[in-house]
Amino acid sequence: MKIGNLETAGSVFLAPMAGVTDPPFRRIVQSFGVSAVWTEMISAHGLGVRGEAFATMDLTGHSVPTVFQVYGVDPAVMAEAARVLQGCGAAAVDVNMGCPAKKIVKTGAGAALMQDLPRAARIVAAVRRVLQIPLTVKIRSGWDESTRTAAALARAVEAEGADAITVHARSRSRKHSGPASADVVAEVKEAVTIPVIGNGGIRNVGDARAMIEQTGCDGVMIGQGALGRPWLPAMVLGFFASARGGAKRSKLLIDVIEEHYRYQLEWIDLQTAVRRMRKHLAWYSKGLPGSPEFRRSVFHVEDPNQVLESARGFFGEAVVS
Ligand SMILES: Cc1cc2nc3c(=O)[nH]c(=O)nc-3n(C[C@H](O)[C@H](O)[C@H](O)COP(=O)(O)O)c2cc1C
Repeated sequence: MKIGNLETAGSVFLAPMAGVTDPPFRRIVQSFGVSAVWTEMISAHGLGVRGEAFATMDLTGHSVPTVFQVYGVDPAVMAEAARVLQGCGAAAVDVNMGCPAKKIVKTGAGAALMQDLPRAARIVAAVRRVLQIPLTVKIRSGWDESTRTAAALARAVEAEGADAITVHARSRSRKHSGPASADVVAEVKEAVTIPVIGNGGIRNVGDARAMIEQTGCDGVMIGQGALGRPWLPAMVLGFFASARGGAKRSKLLIDVIEEHYRYQLEWIDLQTAVRRMRKHLAWYSKGLPGSPEFRRSVFHVEDPNQVLESARGFFGEAVVS
């Protein structure tokens, strides 16, 4: 897929997820295959005004394009942050216009921009001026179920130079769950000529196929479906490429977990790594018999070797599926 001057191998993307799509998770997803990955959202104010460094910007071991996502409200600050991100190896910069968190929307950022099209357009215009790399925007259907501004917003950001748009097919009021309305993705696809990426509720190959068939979108983005199943984007990619199964089905789950754990330990201090891996262990073990007991047994353990020993016992010969 072509996003401005960026050509990706295929059109299946890992969604930005705060607290989840950190470098280790992005690496484990990439180890199976994915067209590009998005970082967690990064504060434009933190980056551009306070000069903060964000650990999530680490691209060690990354093998596919990484799109850095930024959120904020002031066009000049957003532009400065985008300039910094461009200098840090971003393949593209993505502007967040979908975050529903109260502390974000009350500042006018994230999903609040779905209600303030003039400001959204000014942000995109300012960011466009400083970037040589592609600029993308991630939006929702609207602020709530009765205000669907997606198509109008998409037209506005395209006019200011956005190279692609991701549509999360839920309104701000639905947060991250509940039914996704594919028709809003189709509406946006009709409204613009730049590539449109459909997102929301894709949990398997069939969901991805339905999103493309029902909307005509150019690519798909997977979020929660990849929790505990980092091979899902590769499976979808393999299906679309008519390859014989993207992910190797015979791979042992414990091997994936050990690799993920290693990336985590390489990235951050030991205590944080062990704590951050807990939620992933919960996702990896979800649905397996004895999963609650396993979680309880490792959730207070601080030694990664001990955690992995328990995990080896628990996951045994389970394979990715
Ligand atoms: C824990 C979590 C964190 C998220 N963080 C972000 C974020 O930083 N930026 C963003 O644009 N969307 C964020 N999202 C939304 C996802 O990118 C995605 O649009 C949403 O989960 C719908 O896709 P899904 O149904 O495949 O999960 C987050 C979602 C979750 C569940």
